[in-house]
Amino acid sequence: MKSKESLFNYINPNIEYSIVCDDALNALKSLEENHFDLIITSPPYNIGKSYENKTTISEYLNFQENIISELVRVLSNEGSICWQVGNYVNKGEIFPLDIFYYDIFKKFGLKLRNRIIWHFGHGLHASNRFSGRYETILWFTKSDNYIFNLDDVRIPSKYPGKKHFKGPNKGKLSGNPKGKNPSDIWNIVLKDWETGLWNIPNVKSNHPEKTEHPCQFPVELVERCLLALTNKNSWVLDPFVGVGSTAIAALKNERNVVGIDKEKSYCDVSKKRIKQLINGELKLRPIDKPIYVPSNSDKNGKYPKEWQGLVNRNGM
Ligand SMILES: C[S@@+](CC[C@H](N)C(=O)[O-])C[C@H]1O[C@@H](n2cnc3c(N)ncnc32)[C@H](O)[C@@H]1O
Repeated sequence: MKSKESLFNYINPNIEYSIVCDDALNALKSLEENHFDLIITSPPYNIGKSYENKTTISEYLNFQENIISELVRVLSNEGSICWQVGNYVNKGEIFPLDIFYYDIFKKFGLKLRNRIIWHFGHGLHASNRFSGRYETILWFTKSDNYIFNLDDVRIPSKYPGKKHFKGPNKGKLSGNPKGKNPSDIWNIVLKDWETGLWNIPNVKSNHPEKTEHPCQFPVELVERCLLALTNKNSWVLDPFVGVGSTAIAALKNERNVVGIDKEKSYCDVSKKRIKQLINGELKLRPIDKPIYVPSNSDKNGKYPKEWQGLVNRNGM
């Protein structure tokens, strides 16, 4: 763990934050226009979680459109919106929410830069369709002149020593010493705590970031967007901040942040996590930590002897 002294440098004391416990639409009305370089959120999906009343998809989208109108107003001209969603499910039929949201954002003149696939290797097992293993992030910008710091989020190349084999650069290294573009498919561990992945013996029994919230997203997912799409001292907003993952990612990287959530208990957890971060006590999964792969000695990674004879056509 870092010493108190280095933490003081690590979290810039001039950076501001606020957790507003209110209905998002109401709270947004009091925010300054053209202020935020990044608005990043995972809105409610209308699937009947404890913090939402499930309605028809059209009622749900009407409500969200009012919110988005306010978000566009407070977004800076160089700013971005990252809208992280999965599926709304009704009687076994799935409605990928990004398809519906796309038209709303276009109505406000925003431009789509990437539809990022957030892929995770584990999750609930479906029996009447293929198991869902990704959600998406729609990244929109307000203008063509937007902040994009690719170098801050490059990842290690697989073959850094690769050289051009023909042409004028023949024999010269072909990659970028800072690493490669992370692409639009991100393998960031989802809620490990819900999947059993972390219950494997000798691996942690709980994800370090787990709180009481049922749909928390990982801090490292926010960090990648935030490092690429904002500068130090930028302002970041999450209108559905839950237990404060966006706020933590922002403060950790010297960005000012406003988070809104209507549930007091989640706002309390956000404030507590922020205090823990400032005191150097918050446990976080480090950004870009490799995803756990079972080793040969891990008994949970082997085909169990009780299943011998129940072979499928892949020979497992
Ligand atoms: C998918 S969760 C976001 C979780 C968050 N990304 C995190 O990591 O903790 C959606 C959040 O929206 C909040 N919410 C739902 N309707 C709201 C509204 N009208 N105004 C403000 N917050 C709302 C819920 O309380 C919930 O915490």
